[in-house]
Amino acid sequence: MPGTAAPEEYERDLLVQLTRRWGKRVAVKKDELDLDGHFDAALPDFPEHLVPVLGLPGAERLDRDARERVLSAAWIAYNAKTAAIEDEIILPACRLMLQEWIPVRRDDVAVDALHQTIIDEHYHILMCHNAVGVTRRRRDLADVRFAPDAWSVVQGRAAARAGLSGFDRDVVDIAFSLAAETTISGFLSALSTAREIQPMNRITTDLHRRDESGHAVVFRELCGSLYRNLDSAQQRMFREALVGGLTAFRSADLEPWVTVAAQGGFEIGVDQLREWAASRPAPARDTGPLQVLLDDLGIGHDLFGT
Ligand SMILES: [Fe+2]
Ligand SMILES: [Fe+2]
Repeated sequence: MPGTAAPEEYERDLLVQLTRRWGKRVAVKKDELDLDGHFDAALPDFPEHLVPVLGLPGAERLDRDARERVLSAAWIAYNAKTAAIEDEIILPACRLMLQEWIPVRRDDVAVDALHQTIIDEHYHILMCHNAVGVTRRRRDLADVRFAPDAWSVVQGRAAARAGLSGFDRDVVDIAFSLAAETTISGFLSALSTAREIQPMNRITTDLHRRDESGHAVVFRELCGSLYRNLDSAQQRMFREALVGGLTAFRSADLEPWVTVAAQGGFEIGVDQLREWAASRPAPARDTGPLQVLLDDLGIGHDLFGT
């Protein structure tokens, strides 16, 4: 803590190191990307292998133009989901951690880190909005829209906090956001490393992903301090919400893919997608960040089946 910590302890503090470099490190402090300048109309907007509807029976009959419209709509959906995670799950939890009644580390450095994270996350929503704006215009897809609660992860959070109020609900919201911040890098990496797609889409996703490596540290540090200040019943609630969040992040979206498929004139039902989701193996999980987190919290890895 500034003012009270020994100088060497202050220098070792990860949040001190992160907050100091924020101005040189993050997307919001860089020149805005020339989105149209990185748009190559000849390249697909999204990797085919990440679009489940293109693996369903009947998809092989779609012509090239229809497939490309499906891929463009998948990119719009991906950004709508990212923005919903930021707006519905992460930003509210950041603001909660600034409140007096939440027993989380709240020295000047921690407050700095939270305000920086809030600015980053809000900027990520703007980045998604701007990139999708170019796609809508260039691909003539102005009408493709997704409600913020269309995503299984947003629905999962609603289920986790149903019936709760006050402090208990706040704890669940923060635990759920920790699941989000532990998982989002992997979600973004799938696109930021895709060489075959639109440069605009890859670069804008990569800019976002780079910011998230800092957030993972902020959330581990702050949620760790919160967890250690909870009593055992509250800690159990926190762990359950964290497990619920991690599960929700791995569960398939259904209705949004129906909308995406429709952009290529491909009519599918939610039931078909549900069957597909039930039959596929669970997506691989990048367990590295999760294990660091569990070690920080002093929670056994076996709890999560990692
Ligand atoms: Fe973000
Ligand atoms: Fe983040």
